[in-house]
Amino acid sequence: MSLTPLTARFFPARGGRSLLIGMPEMRQSSLVVVANRLPIDDSAAPDGACEWRRSPGGLGSALHPLLRHTPAAWVGWAGGTGPAPRLPDIDGVRMHTVPLSPEDLRDHYEGFANATLWPLYHDAVEQPEHHRRWWEAYQRVNRRFAEATAEVTEPGAVVWVQDYHLQLVPGLLRDLRPDLRIGFFLHVPFPPPELFMQLPRRAELLRGMLGADLIGFQRAQAAHNFAQLVAKVLELPATDRRIDVGDRAVRVGAFPVSIDTAEMAALAARPDVAARARRLRQDLGDPDRVILSVDRMDYTKGIEQRLKAYRELLAGGHVKVPHTVLVQVAVPSRERVGQYQILRDRVEHQVGRINGEFGRVGEPAIHYLTQPFDRAELAALYRIADVMAVTPLRDGMNLVAKEYVAARVDDTGALLLSEFAGAAAELPQAYQVNPHDLEGLKQGLLAALRADPTDAMRRMRAMRAHLRDNDIRAWARSYLSALDDGDSLLTRLTTAG
Ligand code: ADP
Ligand code: F6P
Repeated sequence: MSLTPLTARFFPARGGRSLLIGMPEMRQSSLVVVANRLPIDDSAAPDGACEWRRSPGGLGSALHPLLRHTPAAWVGWAGGTGPAPRLPDIDGVRMHTVPLSPEDLRDHYEGFANATLWPLYHDAVEQPEHHRRWWEAYQRVNRRFAEATAEVTEPGAVVWVQDYHLQLVPGLLRDLRPDLRIGFFLHVPFPPPELFMQLPRRAELLRGMLGADLIGFQRAQAAHNFAQLVAKVLELPATDRRIDVGDRAVRVGAFPVSIDTAEMAALAARPDVAARARRLRQDLGDPDRVILSVDRMDYTKGIEQRLKAYRELLAGGHVKVPHTVLVQVAVPSRERVGQYQILRDRVEHQVGRINGEFGRVGEPAIHYLTQPFDRAELAALYRIADVMAVTPLRDGMNLVAKEYVAARVDDTGALLLSEFAGAAAELPQAYQVNPHDLEGLKQGLLAALRADPTDAMRRMRAMRAHLRDNDIRAWARSYLSALDDGDSLLTRLTTAG
C-alpha cells in the first residue's frame, strides 16, 4: 500500500474496524519511531468504509518519506478513540497503534499537549491552561506509549521519540528497557526559562526528556534554553551540548528538520502537475499575481495578521482584485480545543468581510479552502504561487516554506517568511518580516509582489541549493549518527526510499 493518494480505503470487519488482509504478526524492530500520531489517521467515509488519510502536519511529512521501505516500526495513535485498530504496514513500515480513550483525547491530547504545552512553547501567544487532571492524563498516556514501545523493540535497538506530546517517554522507557539507545527530538520551539518556569510540573518534564541519550531541537537557542533550565531546576551540570545525569552523559544539539527536497522537486516537475497548475491559474482568472498561504488552522500561524495586512493593502489600493488574488488554504486542526474554534470563526469572518468588500461576482479577493490535498495538488498550488506567504508568529520549523522552495523548479517565485519560523535561520534570502508589525508585513508583501525578477531568481536559487544539501536524509543522518555512532541501520535508513 502506498500513501501517494490522499486516502486509502478499507471496509471494517463486522463489529470492528480492523479486518485488513495481510495483517503482520507482532514482531520486534531494530528502529522504532514513537510519535503521538501515526503518519495516517482514520475517518469514516460516507459509504461506511474507513478512510486512512495522510495526516497534515510537519512531523508526518518529515518522517514518512524517510522511513518508507526501511526496517523501521512506528508507534503512534491512529486518530479517534476506542480500541486501537490493527493496521497493515504502510510503505513497508510496521504500524503499532496506541489507543486513546475519550478522556485521554480530551485531557492528554487536547488538554496538556495542546492547551498547556503548545501555547506555552509558542511564546504564549494564547494563554496556556493548567489543570491537574490534564497532567495525570499526560503521565498515563506517556506510560502507555513507553510500554507499547518496550514491547515491539528488539534488544539493543534504537528508539526515536518525537515531540512535546511524549516528553516523559524517554525516562519511562529507559526504566523499562535500559538496553535501548533512546533519542528524543522536539519539533516545536523550546521556550526560554521565564516561560517554561510557569509549568507546575517543570522538573518532571525535564527529567523525562533526560531519559534520552540525545535530545535534539530545531534551533541552537532551544538547546541553550533547555540547558539553562536543567541547571536551574534540576541543579545538574549542563552545557548546550552535554548534560551529566549521574554516570550517564546526555547529548544535546540543534538539528533543523527538513523535507524530501528531491521528491517535491520531481513532483512539481511532472507534466501532469504542470498541467494542473496551468488549469488552476486559469480557474483563478489568470491573475497577474497569485499569493498563496498553506497552514494548519492554528493561532501560531499568523493567519489573522496576514489577512489584516492583505485587507489594508486592498483598501489602500496597493493591490487590486482581480489582478492579484490570495489563495488561503487552512486545514482545520484540533477542532475541539476552544482557542482553535475561536480562531476558525474569526478567520472565516475576516475572509467573508474581505470578499464582501473587495471581491466581485466570480472574482473573490481570497480563495479560501479548508480541505486536505494530496501531494500533487499541493505541488501544483506551489507552482502557481508568485508569492508564498508563510508568516507564523512562532513556528518550530515550518516545512511548508521549504516545500514551496523545493517546488519552484524554474527558480522563480518569492518566499515571504516570518523571522519567527525556524526556517528563517536557514533561508536568509527569503523576504523576511516580523508578523507582529503590520506595516512591516504589508511592506514585505509588496516587496515580494514587486520583486525584481533577477533578484528574486538569485534568492530562489540560493534557497534551493541550501535545501538540496540539507534535506530530510541529511537531517536523519546528522541526528542518527550523533545518536548511534553511525552503523548499518543508519546507512540503510538514509539510502532507502
Ligand atoms: P505544522 O507541523 O505546524 O503543521 P509545517 O509547515 O511544518 O507545520 O508542516 C505542515 C505539513 O502539512 C506540510 O508538509 C504541508 O504540506 C502539510 N499540509 C498543510 N496543509 C495541508 C493540506 N491542506 N493538505 C495536505 N497537507 C497539508
Ligand atoms: O509540528 C508540531 C505538530 O504537533 C506535529 O507533531 C504534528 O505533525 C502537527 O503539529 C499537527 O498536529 P496534530 O497532530 O495535533 O494534528
